[in-house]
Amino acid sequence: MRGKFFTIVFIVLTTKVDGLPNLYAGQCPLLVPSSMTTKIPSQLGKKRPHFITIAHRGASDSLPEHTLPAYRLALELGADYIEADLVATKDNKLVSIHGIDLNTTTNVALLYPERHRTITLDGKNTSGYFVFDFTLEEVQTLRVKQRIGGRSTFFDFTFSIPTIQDIVNLLHDWNHNIIVKNNSTKRSGIYAEFKNPQYYLQQLNISLVDIFLQEMDRNEYADKMFFNTKNQTKFGCERMNEYQVPPLVIQCFDIETLREMRSKLHSKGMAQPSYVLLANAKQCHLPDFWSRVDKLGFLSGIGPDKKCVISETAGKEFINQAQKLNLAVHPYTSREEIEFVTSQFASAEDELRWLYCSRGITGMFVESLDLGVKIGTRGCEDFQEMQEQKDSTEMKKEGNDKHKHATLSQESCSQHNNKNVTTMKSATWIMIGTCLGLWMSRWFSKIGQSIDMGILKKLSIGKMNSRKSLITFKENMVTLIKVGSIHLKMKVKAKTR
Ligand SMILES: *[C@@H]1O[C@H](CO)[C@@H](O)[C@H](O)[C@H]1NC(C)=O
Ligand SMILES: *[C@@H]1O[C@H](CO)[C@@H](O)[C@H](O)[C@H]1NC(C)=O
Ligand SMILES: *[C@@H]1O[C@H](CO)[C@@H](O)[C@H](O)[C@H]1NC(C)=O
Ligand SMILES: *[C@@H]1O[C@H](CO)[C@@H](O)[C@H](O)[C@H]1NC(C)=O
Ligand SMILES: *[C@@H]1O[C@H](CO)[C@@H](O)[C@H](O)[C@H]1NC(C)=O
Ligand SMILES: *[C@@H]1O[C@H](CO)[C@@H](O)[C@H](O)[C@H]1NC(C)=O
Ligand SMILES: *[C@@H]1O[C@H](CO)[C@@H](O)[C@H](O)[C@H]1NC(C)=O
Repeated sequence: MRGKFFTIVFIVLTTKVDGLPNLYAGQCPLLVPSSMTTKIPSQLGKKRPHFITIAHRGASDSLPEHTLPAYRLALELGADYIEADLVATKDNKLVSIHGIDLNTTTNVALLYPERHRTITLDGKNTSGYFVFDFTLEEVQTLRVKQRIGGRSTFFDFTFSIPTIQDIVNLLHDWNHNIIVKNNSTKRSGIYAEFKNPQYYLQQLNISLVDIFLQEMDRNEYADKMFFNTKNQTKFGCERMNEYQVPPLVIQCFDIETLREMRSKLHSKGMAQPSYVLLANAKQCHLPDFWSRVDKLGFLSGIGPDKKCVISETAGKEFINQAQKLNLAVHPYTSREEIEFVTSQFASAEDELRWLYCSRGITGMFVESLDLGVKIGTRGCEDFQEMQEQKDSTEMKKEGNDKHKHATLSQESCSQHNNKNVTTMKSATWIMIGTCLGLWMSRWFSKIGQSIDMGILKKLSIGKMNSRKSLITFKENMVTLIKVGSIHLKMKVKAKTR
């Protein structure tokens, strides 16, 4: 009932403002009833809480961001969405990487030193190795590394940059082959962001929206998963006690790009995804911010910098405004390292729990998936603000001491975490991993391919290390084989060209 009510509210809102027929009013609302107005089941069971966990660049606290293994791990850990940042290559293929400069997270400077150049981006001279100077084939020779210091570097330069095709296929496989076999009705989705769309449009005469739609046309699953108008609710509004997960969200800082996407889909008669407008800490406080959002009319949510919602008065007002317009609020970004936690909180957990239970956000971009899932699953029934705050001041002192300690011994710590595998259980895993690696390398060489044994060994050990819960042996094997076959496919493609 409640789900229906929200759907109706949503449809009425979108039709009222924009005059498009219901069919195009978004597949289903992103907004889930807020924690404060709904009883959240306190028990972990079939019921899911009303909180959306978005895997920021994949499970990027464990694996290098925007890689297939990072996305896959995020799904395994319970992400509602995997977040993909989309940019176009020289030959107009969409790949996922956080920005147009490949140097930030890859070995491009080593492989293509001569491609370094300076462009004028948003009025500033910006130097780098820009993705639009590289063909897809060239981009796929690069390998990705961990961005954030202090995190595991164990998988650095192992995985490549995925295409949008790879990501859609991964999601389809997860939703339709893997999770189904586990008797789960939960489906996950893609939260896609267009990066620097105005630069592409004005400097390169390329519409990222057009390329995205071409890519979706080319993909055998995309239409059914994202745009099918006939049975859109089959996938799009998966319901578990009113909890809804639309399969595709389009997010952007640029309003014009969202408009372009919406009108192009409309003219093709395709179903609309949910749209989320991103806002940095400056934009969200502009005096005309909410009137522009209101005028836009078709948004499902806002993705603000968490600074926009944390401050006492302005933050509260921000949430109030969003609720007035029936918009979901999904701030960015929750990271576990203490230097990324807002200073009044003792930990990322305190911060996220307060944002959800006290401030009333409806989801969050997180890099530690188990934290996001934990906060959502726990719900807010036992949240007591005063006590919590008292606790958090006490814990803060402790936390600071811990932090100092952690910084001091960071190097030895990370080495310990990554490589010191001493327990019996770990040893068993290494054996299994190595045997499988050997078997796979034989299998690969049989069909004329060689595969890096090191990669396989690292994968099977590292998976087990990265997050101890949830990841089963079988899942591990599936990931291994998948990564192996992606490498294989790439090699075969390169050879046949
Ligand atoms: C599959 O189901 C089992 C048992 O219910 C559960 O422990 C496991 O976490 C599930 N796997 C995934 C990937 O959801
Ligand atoms: C490329 O990135 C590395 C850090 O990853 C940095 O040290 C280096 O200066 C960058 N090179 C250029 C040419 O920007
Ligand atoms: C960018 O670089 C060019 C050439 O080096 C220079 O003429 C121009 O003033 C620079 N622009 C800015 C905004 O710094
Ligand atoms: C899924 O359900 C089927 C039929 O009820 C059962 O045989 C199977 O063991 C279940 N699988 C899991 C992973 O729970
Ligand atoms: C921009 O691209 C379109 C086709 O995508 C083409 O028709 C147009 O001529 C191009 N404009 C310029 C200035 O190159
Ligand atoms: C979607 O609808 C088509 C025909 O309208 C049907 O063949 C297909 O099985 C449906 N898909 C799902 C997932 O129900
Ligand atoms: C591994 O960690 C244990 C403590 O858990 C330590 O005693 C041992 O020396 C470490 N081994 C190596 C090789 O670092």
